[in-house]
Amino acid sequence: LVEIRELYRNKESYIGKKIKVGGWVRSIRDSKTFGFVVMNDGTYFETLQIVYHDTLDNFNVISKLNVGSAIIVTGELVATPQAKQPFEIQAEEVMVEGASTADYPLQKKRHTLEYLRTITHLRARTNTFQAVFRVRSLVAYAIHKYFQDRDFVYVHTPIITGSDAEGAGEMFRVTTLDMENLPRTEDGKVDTTQDFFGKETNLTVSGQLNGETYAMAFKNIYTFGPTFRAENSNTTRHAAEFWMIEPEIAFADLKDDMALAEGMLKYIINYVLEHAPEEMKFFNQFIDQGLLERLQIVANSDFGHVTYTQAIELLEKNNDNFDYKVTWGCDLQTEHERYLTEQVFKKPVFVTDYPKDIKAFYMKLNEDNKTVAAMDLLVPGIGEIIGGSQREDDYDKLVKRMEEMDLKKEDYEFYLDLRKYGTARHAGFGLGFERCVMYLTGMGNIRDVVPFPRTVNNCEL
Ligand code: 4AD
Ligand code: MG
Repeated sequence: LVEIRELYRNKESYIGKKIKVGGWVRSIRDSKTFGFVVMNDGTYFETLQIVYHDTLDNFNVISKLNVGSAIIVTGELVATPQAKQPFEIQAEEVMVEGASTADYPLQKKRHTLEYLRTITHLRARTNTFQAVFRVRSLVAYAIHKYFQDRDFVYVHTPIITGSDAEGAGEMFRVTTLDMENLPRTEDGKVDTTQDFFGKETNLTVSGQLNGETYAMAFKNIYTFGPTFRAENSNTTRHAAEFWMIEPEIAFADLKDDMALAEGMLKYIINYVLEHAPEEMKFFNQFIDQGLLERLQIVANSDFGHVTYTQAIELLEKNNDNFDYKVTWGCDLQTEHERYLTEQVFKKPVFVTDYPKDIKAFYMKLNEDNKTVAAMDLLVPGIGEIIGGSQREDDYDKLVKRMEEMDLKKEDYEFYLDLRKYGTARHAGFGLGFERCVMYLTGMGNIRDVVPFPRTVNNCEL
């Protein structure tokens, strides 16, 4: 079988030749003596038209096929310079691999993204999702390539953990206890020592802490895997299950961390522009006009830099227009992030040195004793896409910070050991993979860049 993508890429070598193509019917129309089938084979979001005549034995069977049927067509590929498509097949044989029923949910019309979300198992058969998930696959590859080319070691950090890497308490519990008959201790609490692992466990919110242990062994590492957050935020940018890329670099500070993040993002942009030109053109035409121009500019200009304190000064000037008014010490909301990156800088911007009280316990305290060596990368259209920091590498300061934040030292012994046995400056960041795919494709909802999304009240399939 020849792939449709291959036909479009190298049409000269196929025109006038007999070929065989397998795929699914997108539309069909027939008259008494001939008919047209438009098919797609998943290798490309463009389609292939088949012309068939009543000279075929199964002419009536073909004419009655429903949209969605799987067929294998043999025939000559002929050029059609006048038509919308550059070529079509004159069918000599149309074999029905598997027919589809008339209630096939994807008929020949434009379906809304909302409707397609209700049929997650079928939506990958549409042009938009063909493009999204091919690019998602490619971006994953580009990310591995970026780090592997630079000799970073890929570390598989665990999915089930006993600690809360972010200290934010947004975890999904993992348990095998019988909910109807929970074992209790004498004081009536649930006896977690009787659980599978002999203690309380949860799905990981971040591989960072485990990643740091490997950075202290290999110098440069990255993780790339699923992470889970039980945040009750029903937004277009939050998923309960999402993938994160977390590099960690030793003998490096916040500046090195930002340089790595900027280099990585530019590499990914260039990679998809080069390796998925058709899909990127498609997004630019149907999803987000201006996408290509914007990405080209980003790939070729320096990202902005602003400290949190400077950012607050800029935002305060615009407080009248915000739902949530900013003051120094507050966490930035999406509206503020988008204002900074879309109105003030008009490009990706690093916000650095956040107040320690709104950031995680592991971030390195700055000399002012008020802020930490943190960075968030904000991009137009989305807001935060990366969160990172230089890590606290001083044992005593880290312990003090953990006490202030009420974290149990016992749960983090391994982490403190790193500050005891040859501690070194180190830094890292987390790139939200789905937010990155949204940024690259212009898709506006995280539910449309995850094959099977998990969000509040939604865990289908
Ligand atoms: O800023 P976050 O919480 O940082 C960390 O988890 C650090 N441990 C990273 C590190 O330094 N190694 O999350 C990192 C990124 C965010 O910038 C965002 O892109 C994404 O992960 N993210 C989410 N993406 C989708 N749905 C959610 N609920 C997300 N929460 C975070
Ligand atoms: Mg963050």
